[in-house]
Amino acid sequence: MKKIPYLENVNGNQILMVDDAPFQILGGEFYNSSASDLKYMKEKIWPSVRPLGANCFLAPVYWECLEPKQGVYDFSLVEGMLRQAREEGVRLVFLWFGLWKNGKSSYIPSWMKKNSSYFYMKGADGKFVESVSPFCEKAVELDTKAVCHLMEYLKEHDKERTVVMLQVENEVGFWGQPRDFSNRANELYKGLIPEEMQRLYQKNGTWEEAFGLIACEYFMTWAFASAVGKIAASMKEIYPLPLFMNAMVVGVPLMAGKQPSGGPLPHVLEIWKTYAPAIDLYAPDLYSPFYKEICADYAKKNPLFIPEIAADKDVPSKALYCLSKYHTLCFSPFGIESLMMNISEADLLAQTNSSSCAPVFGTGEKLAQVYHLIKILNPEIAKAREEGRLWAFSQQNSMGDEFYMDNCTISVSYGPCLSEEIPGFPPRMGCREENAPMGGGFILRRTKEEFLICGFSCNIEIQSVFGHEEPVFILEKREWYCTENGLEKGRILNGDERNYMILSSSLGIQSVSVYSRE
Ligand code: DGJ
Repeated sequence: MKKIPYLENVNGNQILMVDDAPFQILGGEFYNSSASDLKYMKEKIWPSVRPLGANCFLAPVYWECLEPKQGVYDFSLVEGMLRQAREEGVRLVFLWFGLWKNGKSSYIPSWMKKNSSYFYMKGADGKFVESVSPFCEKAVELDTKAVCHLMEYLKEHDKERTVVMLQVENEVGFWGQPRDFSNRANELYKGLIPEEMQRLYQKNGTWEEAFGLIACEYFMTWAFASAVGKIAASMKEIYPLPLFMNAMVVGVPLMAGKQPSGGPLPHVLEIWKTYAPAIDLYAPDLYSPFYKEICADYAKKNPLFIPEIAADKDVPSKALYCLSKYHTLCFSPFGIESLMMNISEADLLAQTNSSSCAPVFGTGEKLAQVYHLIKILNPEIAKAREEGRLWAFSQQNSMGDEFYMDNCTISVSYGPCLSEEIPGFPPRMGCREENAPMGGGFILRRTKEEFLICGFSCNIEIQSVFGHEEPVFILEKREWYCTENGLEKGRILNGDERNYMILSSSLGIQSVSVYSRE
């Protein structure tokens, strides 16, 4: 029998193991509503995502569909998704859209929506918001019961291990308010902080005495982490798949409520880890221009796992950056079907959804090339990263990047640069194609003399370190193609093509070797 997927520590990195082998998710997340209709999935979605060459997709399981009548469970969608994914030869990560989805309780079943004993959170104005309070124990119990039925079903019917991980809830937190002002929440907020919080922060007293201005956020984090912690622990007991949670994160400090108050943001992950130890990973959803900083923050706390990233024109370039710089367990653009559909269909879908962007034609193909390249180079990338021979670069919030090594520097510029203005210097243009992915990629030092450079939309220059007694010259530059059989040699780049390495709007793969003379 196949082993249940698990996380394992290999050389200090946590790796997702599927069928006892390392499995990196190169995938995509479907739009929220796609998986609610199996016919739509079969006819529209699978054919459109097939050319991506992804190995796994993230798809919701909706509480309202799973338990349409209290205590009556309907697994037809779950069964259909498992069957379809197996037909496609891909794995799934299920997203449990239960009590909370983006701060709302829109996926709770209608019988629950209409029963006010499952109480909602209140804002500071005393008005209800459409979101069950994490202090409503009865509701948390019902969510636990429902998702445990899902786990039992998977334990029984997924011996093939098609589902490799599960996301518990979706972007939890109180949106728009610093904390819940329901009666129960007010009572607890006036009380003393719990013992674990005292130990964790070496503080005591009431929430405000202990945490002052950040009290509301810490209070809500404790509330959500305790509620989700109970749900996750029960899930694990039944079927111990790796569990994770995603966070809506802006990347700059904002007052609680401006970012969902209580969500698993980097600065409160210690609370989450204390109260929800059954959750294995916390993951950022990347829609912010600070995506590099957010990745760095999460990578300090646990392995980087990207369940959602905006499926915009830049996503192939961001994929190269994230997948090379970090040991990323999952890379998955949101609304993946839009990247691969014909443009008007994709546009229509994107419009239904505020934070996803109108797709740019050709982006899906570029992402497919990146996934293919990563599959080929992954062992080499991982080794180079561990040995400090890999440098990732990204244009986001950067005018250019420079990397120093022994006797040469490699500089990456992303747009027309100063030397263009200087007479006698050949122009170095950034990529002029309107919808090109932004600049990004990586440099991998294969030997002391040889570099492999993969990326989009940038110019790369290799120069001697000024004043170094052994200037470096270019021995050979070559272009490479990513094919079914791995990397295959292309043109030798000499003459005019030797002066600058220009990576364009299509994935560029070039090697360069250098030599020096005394
Ligand atoms: C973040 C959520 O987690 C997704 O489910 C989706 O709603 C996206 N935002 C895009 O709107």
